Amino acid sequence: MKNDALRRIQFAPSMMCADISRVTETLDIFARGGVEWLHIDVMDGAFVPNMQIGVDYVRQLRGLSDIPLDIHLMTYEPGDKVAWFDPRPGEYVSIHYEATPHPQRVLADIRSRGARPMLALNPATPLDSVEYLMDDIDAVLIMTVNPGYAGQKLIPSTIGKIAELRARLDDRGRTDIAIEVDGNVNALNARDMIAAGADILVLGSSAIFGGGADVGKALTDFRAEITGRG
Ligand code: DX5
Ligand code: ZN
Repeated sequence: MKNDALRRIQFAPSMMCADISRVTETLDIFARGGVEWLHIDVMDGAFVPNMQIGVDYVRQLRGLSDIPLDIHLMTYEPGDKVAWFDPRPGEYVSIHYEATPHPQRVLADIRSRGARPMLALNPATPLDSVEYLMDDIDAVLIMTVNPGYAGQKLIPSTIGKIAELRARLDDRGRTDIAIEVDGNVNALNARDMIAAGADILVLGSSAIFGGGADVGKALTDFRAEITGRG
């Protein structure tokens, strides 16, 4: 693992949890608060039992913020959908290992657009799935709940899974591959996730969107709780 002192934990607030009537204000708070990514949950109603964030919403969001997107495709046939979201150079696009028989092909397409390919794994998917894809990815997204809904409870075995993934990546000299975690990232769980080797935290209802209107204060408080700094 990278030297802990050098490791900066990145934040990716989940835009599906943001109050739609305050989106511009919230994006401004994120820009001022040093948020690295906007996490976009795309759900197709088939791979996961919910339907969320569509193409036009993402297009409009791009006009409202310069923060790069972290597009999480929870869809079958993700290869057809990557282009719909017009990923920009440097942005993350994650696809689920469980959603396509040809993950390499889709990850290569993401890379060919200058974006950063990320492989997402459901809680029950073994880490062996990453083994032959390490050359094709810039990051792994470890789901710490079964995807589909905000507000679920952490599946405890996923903390050990993060640590095992970090150890495997270190063994292979792949400290360049980032680990993102998504699901029930509250301050308490975040400490365990960071200790296990997480680099990017998806901030949903458990972290900053659950406590009412003041997302700015929630973000500052959350940062202070996990880093000891305001
Ligand atoms: C889960 C979604 C998350 C979710 C995480 O499928 O990807 O974005 O909102 O936030 P919590 O679990 O804290 O509500
Ligand atoms: Zn997500």
